[in-house]
Amino acid sequence: MKTQIEIQRIEKSKIDSVDFSNLPFGSVYSDHMLECNFKDGAWQKPVIKPFTSISLDPSAKIFHYGQSIFEGMKAYKDDAKNILLFRPTDNWKRFNKSAERLMIPKIPEEIFMEGLKALLRVDSEWIPRNPGSSLYVRPFMFATGTGFHASPADEYKFIIATAPSGAYFAGKVNVLIEEKYARAANGGVGFAKAGGNYAAQFYPTQLAIEKGYNQVIWTDDNTHQFIEEAGAMNIFVRINDTLITSPTSDRILDGITRKSILQIAEDEGIQTEVRKISVGEVVEAAKDGNLLEMFGAGTAAVISPISSFGYQENDFDLPVLENSFASKLKKKITDIQTNKASDPYGWRVIV
Ligand code: PLP
Ligand code: COI
Repeated sequence: MKTQIEIQRIEKSKIDSVDFSNLPFGSVYSDHMLECNFKDGAWQKPVIKPFTSISLDPSAKIFHYGQSIFEGMKAYKDDAKNILLFRPTDNWKRFNKSAERLMIPKIPEEIFMEGLKALLRVDSEWIPRNPGSSLYVRPFMFATGTGFHASPADEYKFIIATAPSGAYFAGKVNVLIEEKYARAANGGVGFAKAGGNYAAQFYPTQLAIEKGYNQVIWTDDNTHQFIEEAGAMNIFVRINDTLITSPTSDRILDGITRKSILQIAEDEGIQTEVRKISVGEVVEAAKDGNLLEMFGAGTAAVISPISSFGYQENDFDLPVLENSFASKLKKKITDIQTNKASDPYGWRVIV
């Protein structure tokens, strides 16, 4: 059955106040949002309405017990003005994996996908066309049900909000390999996009910023000997001509960009390895001149080359390469996303 979506249009669009040639990341919002509430054990009718604040009871469980999850996606427009999404079903599936782990009711595929598509059609003028920009799409869901009892809420709100956005990182990415703090542990929620995972990253990241870095490379919580993720990105390391990334686990997000890059790299004849990467190996390779590239991969950041990393009071610079794997893979993936190249994988979805 097709989902019925009520549409309440904004009286006057804000779009004329936005400078599309100079977009920040994720801080200018489109006219509308999709909202759908869960109550009495069922999802209610989704509504597209003007982007506006929401009012919650102070005892809503989101404030006390952090039942909150989100996704990150991007929408693009091609030359023929088609609205494009990249592997959106994978985001929906991952959203529900996160929901299950946080005891939040799963969202039906029709509400997520039909709601998303309807919202993008309503706000299609907000999808930037300039290279490097896109409409960042943020589906999220949280506990609105009330009570100080530490147990799952009985009511939830699902929202999709969108933000025309430019690059996530403004300049060079210098990272610090973390030796003390961990973002995730076995049996925990690291694989989920739970809001609390990000809150827990802010303090160690701030300590790294104070030392002159802009991101943390997370290591395993047990030994801190293996590199796992780079801030809110999966991490890739190139040693000589092999591209290596950590296997996903309880602790590591199963990134859609990560798995797409692995597939493209293999098809481009780049040798890839999915295995644990020890800090010692990376430091040795850097000292020997065999560490040619490190980059983070994620929806928001796309592929962000790391220009240096710090470990135990030493800093290691990475070379600047003419034809890096990062630039080649970034071009390939963004060309598929924006319909500038054919998509042999069937990843692109026209709305
Ligand atoms: N790792 C973390 C912790 C993230 O928050 C993200 C962002 O979504 C990623 C990796 C990359 O995942 P994706 O490529 O699906 O955006
Ligand atoms: C994304 O890459 O979409 C993310 O969700 C990362 C986010 C924390 C900005």
